[in-house]
Amino acid sequence: MRFKVTVLPGDGIGPEVTAEAVRVLQDVAAIDGYRFDFEEHAIGGAAIREFGSPLPTKTLDACLASDAVLLGAVGAPEYDRLPPNQRPEAGLLLLRRALGGYANLRPAISFKPIAACSPLRPEISDGADILIVRELLGGLYFGEPRGFAGANGSTVASNTMSYSVEEIERIARIAFVAARQRRGKVTSVDKANVLETSQLWRQTVTRVAQDYPDVTLDHLYVDACAMHLIANPRRFDVLLTENLFGDILSDEAAVIAGSLGMLASATIGGEVGLYEPVHGSAPDIVGQGIANPCGAIASAAMMLRHSANLEQEACDIELAIQHVLEAGYRTPDIAAGTGGYMATTSEIGELVCQAVTEIVDMRHAYHAV
Ligand code: IPM
Ligand code: MG
Repeated sequence: MRFKVTVLPGDGIGPEVTAEAVRVLQDVAAIDGYRFDFEEHAIGGAAIREFGSPLPTKTLDACLASDAVLLGAVGAPEYDRLPPNQRPEAGLLLLRRALGGYANLRPAISFKPIAACSPLRPEISDGADILIVRELLGGLYFGEPRGFAGANGSTVASNTMSYSVEEIERIARIAFVAARQRRGKVTSVDKANVLETSQLWRQTVTRVAQDYPDVTLDHLYVDACAMHLIANPRRFDVLLTENLFGDILSDEAAVIAGSLGMLASATIGGEVGLYEPVHGSAPDIVGQGIANPCGAIASAAMMLRHSANLEQEACDIELAIQHVLEAGYRTPDIAAGTGGYMATTSEIGELVCQAVTEIVDMRHAYHAV
């Protein structure tokens, strides 16, 4: 099997964490006799510096011609004052739209060995396992009209939130199907007490739910949801949200895992799947070798599951991350109060590779008996 991955390291800690994700993928390929081809391209601030655009044509073409895209992070403080369409983030949004993936899956899991680094008490977070299904191509991020207006060009700014029935329906179906393979519950998030888009959202999700009678559906307003997510994370199974609400709630859900550095994501439903850790470029810790690569490595696992149809290998990587945490290895973001030993970004990558090898060997030995 050949599988072509476009790697977009991007900005900040992006290159450091994607290097470890690629290393783990190479390891899996070597063990199982697959061939993964990697091709690196520029995006975000790195692409602005080199090519004058946050998404150069060459990058986009490479992504469209690959089986999956693995991205690190985009964003750098030096571009903070630029208008939205010239910033590094614009490159990511253009890419998301071009690849067509409208369903962003963001698991938020409590990891037992590092439970102490979460500000949540262990009895609250223990066992929490949520899949956030975030709509990724609609809402305020892409709605038109948008922009600055007024006398000096900036006295008024506006964005448009709009959703069609079709857009809501297709993301709702992703959530219901996912719930079927999990604990059979979807919680849909909206602000239907104020917003028309949310009323349409709630109506549509409720109608689509009739096709999935084995799945339970409930609705929460986004403000209440933000509270319940922290107060009682175990009440959630699949959390279905529009774009901006999902952006906000998924960062909040990082508290359940203990660190944003642990969270992975997969964007599916389009031509080519896009896999990126949820954390950003973290300019404050660049180049120190202390970034947590687990989110990027877990994103690579999701890539194998959703784009390469390698479920077993995806599970192996996820289990390997657990083993490394259980063995006590920590980057600073997951160290507080959890004991264990400090490890660098690349040491964690190396340890995950070793754990993958052990897990695969064990499975082979088990099958041989
Ligand atoms: C995320 C990020 C992006 C988003 C930014 C970098 C554009 O925050 O993936 O959550 O808002 O979607
Ligand atoms: Mg975000």
